[in-house]
Amino acid sequence: MELDLLGERRRTHRCGELRKAHAGRKVFLAGWVARRRDLGNLIFLDLRDHTGVVQVVLNAEVSPEAHAKAEQVRNEFVVGVEGEVVLRSPETVNPQLTTGEVEVKGQTLLLLNEAKTPPFPIEDETRTVEETRLRYRYLDLRRSRMQQNIRLRDRANQVVRQHMAGHHFVEVETPFMTRSTPEGARDYLVPSRVRQGHFYALPQSPQLFKQLLMIAGFDRYFQIVRCFRDEDLRADRQPEFTQIDVEMAFPQREELFEIIERLMEKLLAIVDVKVERPFPRLSYTTAMEKYGSDKPDLRFGLEWRRVELPANSLDKLKGFQAVKALRVPNAKLSRSQLDRYQQGLLEAGASNSAYFTVTESGIQSRLKNAVGEEALQQLAAAAAAQVGDLVILVGADSTSRDKLQSLDQASTWLRLELGRKLELIKPGVWSFAWVVDFPMFEYDPKEKRFAAMHHPFTSPREEDLPKLESDPASVKALAYDLVLNGQEIGGGSIRMHRRDIQQRVFKVLGLSDEKARERFGFFMDALEYGAPPHGGIALGVDRIVALLAGESSIREVIAFPKTASAVDLMCDAPASVDREQLEELGLKIVKH
Ligand code: AMO
Repeated sequence: MELDLLGERRRTHRCGELRKAHAGRKVFLAGWVARRRDLGNLIFLDLRDHTGVVQVVLNAEVSPEAHAKAEQVRNEFVVGVEGEVVLRSPETVNPQLTTGEVEVKGQTLLLLNEAKTPPFPIEDETRTVEETRLRYRYLDLRRSRMQQNIRLRDRANQVVRQHMAGHHFVEVETPFMTRSTPEGARDYLVPSRVRQGHFYALPQSPQLFKQLLMIAGFDRYFQIVRCFRDEDLRADRQPEFTQIDVEMAFPQREELFEIIERLMEKLLAIVDVKVERPFPRLSYTTAMEKYGSDKPDLRFGLEWRRVELPANSLDKLKGFQAVKALRVPNAKLSRSQLDRYQQGLLEAGASNSAYFTVTESGIQSRLKNAVGEEALQQLAAAAAAQVGDLVILVGADSTSRDKLQSLDQASTWLRLELGRKLELIKPGVWSFAWVVDFPMFEYDPKEKRFAAMHHPFTSPREEDLPKLESDPASVKALAYDLVLNGQEIGGGSIRMHRRDIQQRVFKVLGLSDEKARERFGFFMDALEYGAPPHGGIALGVDRIVALLAGESSIREVIAFPKTASAVDLMCDAPASVDREQLEELGLKIVKH
């Protein structure tokens, strides 16, 4: 096929811009052919660019050359059209299109490039499997939904930059080729050629650099920054993702919260959502007790309560050493549905579960024989249940940490299931919360040692310092998470700015002085040169934009994401490299 050159031609308009008021104008448009209809003497092309679609008509009698070219055109060909905007006759107006009142009478048609038949149609709604979409991501991104998502992300970034600059935060770039920073995941490593056997680590976050910037006197720092973590991937996790990373010197938690809340206010305004400030605060303990989760979805009620079964019924009913009860007002759930929930609870980690309903004439339950009406009435009262309510009990067969964690997981699962099933999440409701007062440490039974719940640079509460070594499990951290609609969208803390305390925390974490020096010596040294009190937060851009876009996976708001197995299907990365390249790096592949 003979192709034309663009030459000196410039687009006068974008396809989606044309309206009635443009009638009579000579225009030059260019874009992709979304559809071609051939009615013999008349050929209609739907011409698309990122702003929308406009109809172009090529008439064999008026412009035979252009019409002849249009006969060769197929979907996704790139064409340029010179022509005149005309009003459509009333019966041909297309109300589905923003440009539907006009069309362009094509006089010249330029065939700028041809296109193979795409592996899927370039349409908003697609049933194409994600694998194919990712393999041909450049075509997937041509779909208007993806265009909108990526452009929404761009607007969000602009809002962030403007907001942070307005609060005197300085954007500083920190290195990607660095040392390991502990955020709890595995590192991606980059081998060094000049120091064979040595590796850079891609940063899991700029945590230490931003702290060093505070020591350097930058006072307020932010960065929209890529982070890299080799961890199990899910809909809300990618191996490389983007943070709005923030740090400030002489921080007051409330001041930071206000800056971040006002930022969230502006970000939600992009999608016309109004936010109520200040965001509610919830202690970690309350969140776990009421919702079984440290990232509770507060768009609906349904709160768990700790209850106890009478001691004499525990022999008859196994799996209720620790019990949580959920009151579901007026729940009209069938027995088979409830049985399915019971099965689901077991699968989610509960040891046992049961339910009863409170009626005018007493309690209705299979539990009556084992527990007795009176005890059930007491449980109903403990769960604050009223006539018409369903009460669901979930139990763990011991009070060990693992079992209680599984109990929490199961109770979170059921709460979210019920929220969906009973349609308790009203459209248009957005619920933020700050989760605060996290424990400083988590005991890792496998490793038989404490690990930092947030990260090892988070400061303990001042009043807990005396028991740092003697009772680490009870020490609370000055850490906070920001939760939106049940998703953790940010996390941060006030840090330790004194070397002596940092060293004590490393010790509790099982890091000897020697190991600490080896891994973080540069940072420990820096703490000795006048480190100011400081603290900050990092927000997950991918998660926030996915929420704004109403997408359930962050892959939908990342231009070139990876699959759940961290593969880039389009470039086929990771890939093998030449033997020479490995030799230069002093590396040898050993297959297991
Ligand atoms: P944290 O590890 O909590 O904190 O990360 C901050 C936020 O980043 C997002 N996030 C992710 N998003 C997509 N894919 C991932 N794999 C992923 N991992 C994390 C989440 C999370 O809330 N340095 C500290 C911050 C600080 O203390 O200031 C940090 O990185 O939304």
